[in-house]
Amino acid sequence: MSSQYQREPELGDGLRLHLNENTGGCSPKVIEALRALSPLDAAIYPDYGRVTDVCARHLGVDPARLLLTNGLDEGILAAAIAYLQREPTPLSRSASRSTSRTGDGAPEGLIAEPCFGMYADCIEAVGGRIVRVAPPADLAFPLDAVLAAITPRTRVIYLTSPGNPTGLLIPHAAVHALARALPHGLVFIDEAYADFTDAHFLGELDAAPNVVVGRTFAKAYGLAALRIGAVVGDAAVIAQLRRSLPPYSINVAAAVALEAALGDQAHLDAYRAAVRASKARVYAVCDRLGLAYWPSEANFVLIRVGDRATAIVEALRQRRIFVRDRSTEPGCAGCIRITAGVVAQTEQALAALEDILCAVA
Ligand SMILES: Cc1ncc(COP(=O)(O)O)c(C=O)c1O
Repeated sequence: MSSQYQREPELGDGLRLHLNENTGGCSPKVIEALRALSPLDAAIYPDYGRVTDVCARHLGVDPARLLLTNGLDEGILAAAIAYLQREPTPLSRSASRSTSRTGDGAPEGLIAEPCFGMYADCIEAVGGRIVRVAPPADLAFPLDAVLAAITPRTRVIYLTSPGNPTGLLIPHAAVHALARALPHGLVFIDEAYADFTDAHFLGELDAAPNVVVGRTFAKAYGLAALRIGAVVGDAAVIAQLRRSLPPYSINVAAAVALEAALGDQAHLDAYRAAVRASKARVYAVCDRLGLAYWPSEANFVLIRVGDRATAIVEALRQRRIFVRDRSTEPGCAGCIRITAGVVAQTEQALAALEDILCAVA
C-alpha cells in the first residue's frame, strides 16, 4: 500500500503543521496510564472489553456497535476488505495472463476528491476499482455527481466530514441520500475531525443501517503514535468489519491510553479552544493578505496562496516549519493546508508565511 503520509526527513524540532496532529501532546493522564503498565500487562494478549465499554459510553452507543481499530486507517481498510475484496486470483499462469486485478468487473469504491489518500490506497490494495468524483470550484460536497457515479458495482462510498483538506461538513441529508441510493453497499463517513465540530452523524445511524462512522483518537486526543481509532454502525455491519481484522490489532498501550484520554475532558476542551483561537488567527491573516481560505470545522485550514504554493511550502520548510502542499490535488491548485492547534505555533507559522509572502510580492 502506498503511504500518503508526507514524510519529512530530519524533522527534528521543526514545527509539524503538516499532518493535523495535536502538537501540544496528549493528556498527561495518558502518560501516567502508560507508566502504570506492568510487565505482565505487556506479556499477555490484551482484553478490549473495558476500553470498548468506556469508548462506547463516551460515544453514546451500544458496545456491539463499536469496533476499536489500530488507527482509523485500519477501519478504512476493514471496510475495503469486507466490501470490495474480490475472489483471490488463482496463481496459475493462464489465470494471471487473463485476469486484471482491477478490471471491468471489479467492485467499485467511490471517493469525492479532494480527499484523504488512504481510501484510494485501500480500495486498490484489495483489488477494487477506484471511482473518483471531481470537485466543484468551491470544493463543496458534490452530492449529485456522487449519486450519478453510483453503478451496480459500487460497494463502498468513502466520505469525510469535516473534509480533509477542506474542513467542510457534508450535510446529513446528503449522507442519507447516498445511503438510500446504495442499499446493498456501505457508506463510510470518516469523522476523523469530528471532535472539533458539533456536527456528527452518530445520532443518525439508527435511520441509516448501511452507514458507518469512523473516528480517530489521533487528532483531538493526541494519540497518533499509539494508533487507535473506532468504527461505529449497525451491529451486523460492525461484526462483518470485525471479521476482516486480526483479533489483537490494538496493543495494550493504545487501549489504556484511550481510556485515560477519554477521562480527561478538560485537556480536550483546552485543545479545542486553542484550535478555535488558532483558526481565528489564520483567518485574520488571510483576510489581511487577501488570501482565499475555506472556513474549517477541523483543526486545519486550506489556504489558496496562489501559483507559488510549492515555493512557499519550501520556504517555510527552510525555516523548519512544515505545512502541507495540496496544490497538485483536484480542485486545490495554489493551495496549502496548515494545522491550527497550539496558538503560539500558529502565530509563529503565520508570521513566517506573511514574511515570505511579502518578500516575494
Ligand atoms: C480524514 C482522515 N481519516 C483518517 C486519518 C487517519 O487516522 P489514524 O491516524 O487514526 O489512522 C487521517 C489522518 O490524517 C485523516 O486525515
